Amino acid sequence: MSFQQYYAPITANTRLATNTYLIRLHAPALAEAIRPGQFIMIRMPNSSDPLLGRPFALYDTFIDMKKGRPTGIDVVYLVVGKITKLLANLKVGAAVEVWGPLGNGFPDPVGADHVALVAGGIGQTPFLAHIRELLGARGYGGQTPRRRVQKVSLYYGVRTANLAAGVDDFKNAGATVHLASNDGSVGHHGFVTDLLVKHDAPQHLFGCGPEPMLHALAKQAEARGIPCHLSLETPMACGVGICFSCVTAVKTSDGWDYKRVCVDGPVFDAKCLQW
Ligand code: FES
Repeated sequence: MSFQQYYAPITANTRLATNTYLIRLHAPALAEAIRPGQFIMIRMPNSSDPLLGRPFALYDTFIDMKKGRPTGIDVVYLVVGKITKLLANLKVGAAVEVWGPLGNGFPDPVGADHVALVAGGIGQTPFLAHIRELLGARGYGGQTPRRRVQKVSLYYGVRTANLAAGVDDFKNAGATVHLASNDGSVGHHGFVTDLLVKHDAPQHLFGCGPEPMLHALAKQAEARGIPCHLSLETPMACGVGICFSCVTAVKTSDGWDYKRVCVDGPVFDAKCLQW
């Protein structure tokens, strides 16, 4: 395990959409090491309530222009439970405990010109850094920037318009953004996977969001013959492979077995998952 633990001061905590915030943590070594698709665990310092941390995907790293290198970690979170409520109330200058980088990150979509990223709910959060890496705007984890694909499309589904968070960030990063909403208040009225199927097939799919959406995406990918990787949003307790609270079923040569999402994922080849 190559993760480290940090006491990370907060340098920004700003609202992006309804109940959705971006928090920026000063953690230069972590920012230099982390890659798109990996995650960090955040815990309140000097507190046993809540006792455990919570996983958060990397949204992007923050580059200090004077130093010319990444010094911060940006995380986007929806306020849904105790830790995220506490996070939303933290001011600049406060600090949190952080450990990372954790998980495997997104694989290269080898041979693909056009990649589609499919997000539901708060599942858009791993995709900003991913877009920048795919289009060669940024290198992560010490890698030199390298363009991997020609086009990235983001299909992003939300319950309602005011929950769409970071849309301008994704557009500014160079993605073509297609929105869908359950209530029709923005974009396509209906499921994001139904919007995806109306468009030309990409050569590789990545997905992150609620399990029913991921299952629908996996089925669509299989039917259209498109390679697909999914980032799972499984609840986690330790984040480092010790507690087995995050297991998911994967296919094996003689049936199926459990894998720990925190260390074997969170990104899995969709065809390996046992739904
Ligand atoms: Fe503890 Fe994965 S969260 S083993």
